[in-house]
Amino acid sequence: MRDTIIAPSILSANFSDMGNAVREIERSGADWVHVDVMDGRFVPSITFGPKMVGDLRSFSKIPFDVHLMIIEPEKHVAAFASAGADYITFHLEAVVHAHRLAQEIHHLGKKCGISIVPSTPISDIDFMLDFLDLVLIMTVNPGVGGQKIIEPCLRKVETLARLRAERDLQFLISVDGGINEETARLARAAGSDVLIAGSAFFAALNKKELVRQLKEL
Ligand code: DX5
Ligand code: ZN
Repeated sequence: MRDTIIAPSILSANFSDMGNAVREIERSGADWVHVDVMDGRFVPSITFGPKMVGDLRSFSKIPFDVHLMIIEPEKHVAAFASAGADYITFHLEAVVHAHRLAQEIHHLGKKCGISIVPSTPISDIDFMLDFLDLVLIMTVNPGVGGQKIIEPCLRKVETLARLRAERDLQFLISVDGGINEETARLARAAGSDVLIAGSAFFAALNKKELVRQLKEL
Protein backbone atom coordinates (compact mmCIF):
# COMPACT_ATOMS: atom_id res chain seq x y z
CA MET A 1 0.00 0.00 0.00
CA ARG A 2 1.24 3.50 -0.85
CA ASP A 3 1.61 6.26 1.73
CA THR A 4 -1.43 8.40 2.34
CA ILE A 5 -1.39 11.83 0.72
CA ILE A 6 -3.42 14.42 2.62
CA ALA A 7 -4.83 17.24 0.52
CA PRO A 8 -6.81 19.84 2.50
CA SER A 9 -9.22 21.87 0.37
CA ILE A 10 -9.10 25.66 0.60
CA LEU A 11 -12.79 25.69 -0.32
CA SER A 12 -13.46 25.58 3.43
CA ALA A 13 -10.99 28.36 4.27
CA ASN A 14 -11.82 32.02 4.76
CA PHE A 15 -11.54 33.43 1.21
CA SER A 16 -10.29 36.76 2.55
CA ASP A 17 -7.29 35.06 4.13
CA MET A 18 -6.22 32.43 1.61
CA GLY A 19 -2.49 33.00 1.95
CA ASN A 20 -2.65 32.07 5.61
CA ALA A 21 -4.86 29.08 4.84
CA VAL A 22 -2.17 27.72 2.53
CA ARG A 23 0.51 28.33 5.16
CA GLU A 24 -1.65 26.51 7.71
CA ILE A 25 -1.96 23.55 5.37
CA GLU A 26 1.80 23.33 4.95
CA ARG A 27 2.44 23.77 8.68
CA SER A 28 0.00 20.94 9.51
CA GLY A 29 2.20 18.44 7.70
CA ALA A 30 -0.34 17.88 4.91
CA ASP A 31 1.09 16.98 1.50
CA TRP A 32 -0.89 18.94 -1.08
CA VAL A 33 -3.14 21.99 -1.31
CA HIS A 34 -6.45 21.06 -2.98
CA VAL A 35 -7.89 23.94 -5.01
CA ASP A 36 -11.58 23.68 -5.95
CA VAL A 37 -12.38 25.73 -9.04
CA MET A 38 -16.13 26.17 -9.67
CA ASP A 39 -17.78 28.12 -12.45
CA GLY A 40 -21.48 28.36 -11.56
CA ARG A 41 -22.20 26.20 -14.64
CA PHE A 42 -20.81 22.70 -14.12
CA VAL A 43 -21.70 23.15 -10.45
CA PRO A 44 -23.96 25.84 -8.96
CA SER A 45 -21.26 27.63 -6.94
CA ILE A 46 -18.53 29.99 -8.13
CA THR A 47 -15.14 30.09 -6.43
CA PHE A 48 -12.01 31.41 -8.12
CA GLY A 49 -9.74 31.08 -11.13
CA PRO A 50 -6.07 30.90 -12.14
CA LYS A 51 -5.17 34.22 -10.54
CA MET A 52 -5.89 32.72 -7.12
CA VAL A 53 -3.51 29.86 -7.89
CA GLY A 54 -0.83 32.29 -9.06
CA ASP A 55 -1.22 34.60 -6.08
CA LEU A 56 -1.12 31.68 -3.62
CA ARG A 57 1.85 29.98 -5.23
CA SER A 58 4.44 31.95 -3.26
CA PHE A 59 2.87 30.96 0.09
CA SER A 60 3.98 27.33 -0.11
CA LYS A 61 6.15 24.94 -2.06
CA ILE A 62 3.93 21.86 -1.65
CA PRO A 63 2.02 20.66 -4.75
CA PHE A 64 -1.18 22.40 -5.81
CA ASP A 65 -3.86 19.90 -6.76
CA VAL A 66 -6.29 21.84 -8.93
CA HIS A 67 -9.78 20.34 -9.28
CA LEU A 68 -11.64 21.95 -12.17
CA MET A 69 -15.41 21.74 -11.70
CA ILE A 70 -16.01 23.79 -14.81
CA ILE A 71 -17.43 23.37 -18.29
CA GLU A 72 -14.99 23.65 -21.20
CA PRO A 73 -11.90 23.00 -19.06
CA GLU A 74 -9.81 22.85 -22.26
CA LYS A 75 -10.09 26.64 -22.46
CA HIS A 76 -8.45 27.13 -19.07
CA VAL A 77 -5.83 24.45 -18.45
CA ALA A 78 -2.96 26.51 -19.89
CA ALA A 79 -3.75 29.40 -17.55
CA PHE A 80 -3.81 27.10 -14.51
CA ALA A 81 -0.58 25.46 -15.66
CA SER A 82 1.27 28.76 -15.95
CA ALA A 83 -0.21 29.93 -12.64
CA GLY A 84 1.59 27.05 -10.91
CA ALA A 85 -0.79 24.10 -10.69
CA ASP A 86 0.99 20.73 -10.30
CA TYR A 87 -1.93 18.36 -10.82
CA ILE A 88 -4.77 19.47 -13.09
CA THR A 89 -7.94 17.39 -12.77
CA PHE A 90 -10.95 17.90 -15.01
CA HIS A 91 -14.34 16.23 -15.00
CA LEU A 92 -15.05 13.52 -17.53
CA GLU A 93 -18.65 14.77 -17.63
CA ALA A 94 -17.47 18.19 -18.82
CA VAL A 95 -15.58 17.12 -21.93
CA VAL A 96 -15.96 15.20 -25.18
CA HIS A 97 -12.25 14.80 -25.96
CA ALA A 98 -10.86 13.58 -22.65
CA HIS A 99 -7.84 11.95 -24.25
CA ARG A 100 -6.90 15.09 -26.15
CA LEU A 101 -7.15 17.19 -23.00
CA ALA A 102 -5.02 14.74 -21.02
CA GLN A 103 -2.37 14.98 -23.74
CA GLU A 104 -2.51 18.74 -23.60
CA ILE A 105 -2.09 18.82 -19.81
CA HIS A 106 0.93 16.54 -20.16
CA HIS A 107 2.36 18.76 -22.88
CA LEU A 108 2.06 21.65 -20.45
CA GLY A 109 4.34 19.66 -18.17
CA LYS A 110 1.66 18.91 -15.57
CA LYS A 111 0.20 15.79 -13.99
CA CYS A 112 -3.27 14.97 -15.26
CA GLY A 113 -6.28 13.75 -13.32
CA ILE A 114 -9.84 12.90 -14.28
CA SER A 115 -12.72 13.15 -11.85
CA ILE A 116 -16.14 11.52 -11.99
CA VAL A 117 -19.30 12.50 -10.09
CA PRO A 118 -21.16 9.90 -7.99
CA SER A 119 -23.53 8.85 -10.79
CA THR A 120 -20.76 8.19 -13.35
CA PRO A 121 -19.53 4.57 -13.39
CA ILE A 122 -15.87 3.53 -13.53
CA SER A 123 -16.51 1.90 -16.92
CA ASP A 124 -16.76 5.41 -18.41
CA ILE A 125 -13.09 6.12 -17.64
CA ASP A 126 -11.83 2.64 -18.44
CA PHE A 127 -10.15 3.70 -21.68
CA MET A 128 -8.50 6.70 -20.06
CA LEU A 129 -6.81 4.82 -17.20
CA ASP A 130 -3.61 4.25 -19.17
CA PHE A 131 -3.14 7.98 -19.65
CA LEU A 132 -3.67 9.36 -16.16
CA ASP A 133 -1.61 10.31 -13.12
CA LEU A 134 -4.64 10.52 -10.86
CA VAL A 135 -8.31 9.56 -10.72
CA LEU A 136 -10.48 11.62 -8.39
CA ILE A 137 -13.60 9.84 -7.20
CA MET A 138 -16.20 12.32 -5.98
CA THR A 139 -17.81 10.91 -2.86
CA VAL A 140 -20.41 13.71 -2.73
CA ASN A 141 -22.13 15.61 -5.52
CA PRO A 142 -19.64 18.38 -6.24
CA GLY A 143 -20.50 21.98 -5.48
CA VAL A 144 -20.21 22.65 -1.77
CA GLY A 145 -18.13 21.54 1.17
CA GLY A 146 -19.48 20.01 4.35
CA GLN A 147 -21.71 17.30 2.83
CA LYS A 148 -22.08 13.73 4.07
CA ILE A 149 -20.21 11.03 2.16
CA ILE A 150 -22.23 8.88 -0.29
CA GLU A 151 -20.74 5.59 0.84
CA PRO A 152 -21.51 3.43 -2.21
CA CYS A 153 -19.04 5.64 -4.13
CA LEU A 154 -16.30 3.78 -2.26
CA ARG A 155 -17.20 0.64 -4.21
CA LYS A 156 -15.90 2.51 -7.26
CA VAL A 157 -12.63 3.07 -5.42
CA GLU A 158 -12.40 -0.69 -4.84
CA THR A 159 -13.04 -1.40 -8.53
CA LEU A 160 -10.47 1.16 -9.57
CA ALA A 161 -7.83 -0.20 -7.21
CA ARG A 162 -8.44 -3.68 -8.62
CA LEU A 163 -8.14 -2.48 -12.23
CA ARG A 164 -4.95 -0.61 -11.39
CA ALA A 165 -3.37 -3.71 -9.91
CA GLU A 166 -4.54 -5.96 -12.76
CA ARG A 167 -3.09 -3.64 -15.38
CA ASP A 168 -0.02 -2.69 -13.40
CA LEU A 169 -0.81 1.03 -13.64
CA GLN A 170 0.51 3.74 -11.33
CA PHE A 171 -2.15 6.45 -11.15
CA LEU A 172 -3.15 7.75 -7.72
CA ILE A 173 -6.69 7.27 -6.45
CA SER A 174 -8.14 10.31 -4.74
CA VAL A 175 -11.40 10.67 -2.80
CA ASP A 176 -13.19 13.97 -2.37
CA GLY A 177 -16.24 14.83 -0.29
CA GLY A 178 -17.28 14.06 3.27
CA ILE A 179 -13.85 12.81 4.31
CA ASN A 180 -13.19 12.93 8.07
CA GLU A 181 -11.45 10.69 10.62
CA GLU A 182 -14.14 7.99 10.33
CA THR A 183 -14.80 8.00 6.59
CA ALA A 184 -11.08 8.29 5.81
CA ARG A 185 -10.62 4.83 7.29
CA LEU A 186 -13.22 3.40 4.88
CA ALA A 187 -11.70 5.30 1.95
CA ARG A 188 -8.23 3.97 2.72
CA ALA A 189 -9.56 0.43 3.14
CA ALA A 190 -11.23 0.73 -0.27
CA GLY A 191 -7.87 1.55 -1.84
CA SER A 192 -7.55 5.33 -2.07
CA ASP A 193 -4.18 7.11 -1.77
CA VAL A 194 -5.17 10.77 -1.63
CA LEU A 195 -7.60 11.99 1.03
CA ILE A 196 -9.09 15.40 0.27
CA ALA A 197 -10.66 17.12 3.26
CA GLY A 198 -12.20 20.57 3.38
CA SER A 199 -14.52 21.10 6.34
CA ALA A 200 -12.90 18.42 8.54
CA PHE A 201 -9.48 20.06 8.12
CA PHE A 202 -10.51 23.67 8.65
CA ALA A 203 -12.82 22.79 11.58
CA ALA A 204 -10.04 20.87 13.35
CA LEU A 205 -8.56 22.76 16.30
CA ASN A 206 -5.37 20.74 16.09
CA LYS A 207 -4.65 20.36 12.38
CA LYS A 208 -1.28 18.70 12.90
CA GLU A 209 -2.91 16.03 15.00
CA LEU A 210 -5.67 15.47 12.44
CA VAL A 211 -3.13 15.07 9.64
CA ARG A 212 -1.07 12.70 11.76
CA GLN A 213 -4.17 10.59 12.51
CA LEU A 214 -5.24 10.48 8.87
CA LYS A 215 -1.76 9.46 7.77
CA GLU A 216 -1.65 6.62 10.26
CA LEU A 217 -4.81 4.91 9.00
C1 DX5 B 1 -16.70 19.53 -3.36
C2 DX5 B 1 -15.23 19.78 -3.53
C3 DX5 B 1 -14.46 19.26 -2.38
C4 DX5 B 1 -14.83 19.90 -1.08
C5 DX5 B 1 -14.79 18.85 -0.02
O1 DX5 B 1 -17.41 19.93 -4.45
O2 DX5 B 1 -14.73 19.17 -4.69
O3 DX5 B 1 -13.06 19.34 -2.60
O4 DX5 B 1 -13.99 20.93 -0.69
O5 DX5 B 1 -15.29 19.40 1.15
P1 DX5 B 1 -15.62 18.50 2.40
O6 DX5 B 1 -14.36 17.83 2.81
O7 DX5 B 1 -16.12 19.50 3.38
O8 DX5 B 1 -16.68 17.52 1.96
ZN1 ZN C 1 -12.36 19.00 -4.87
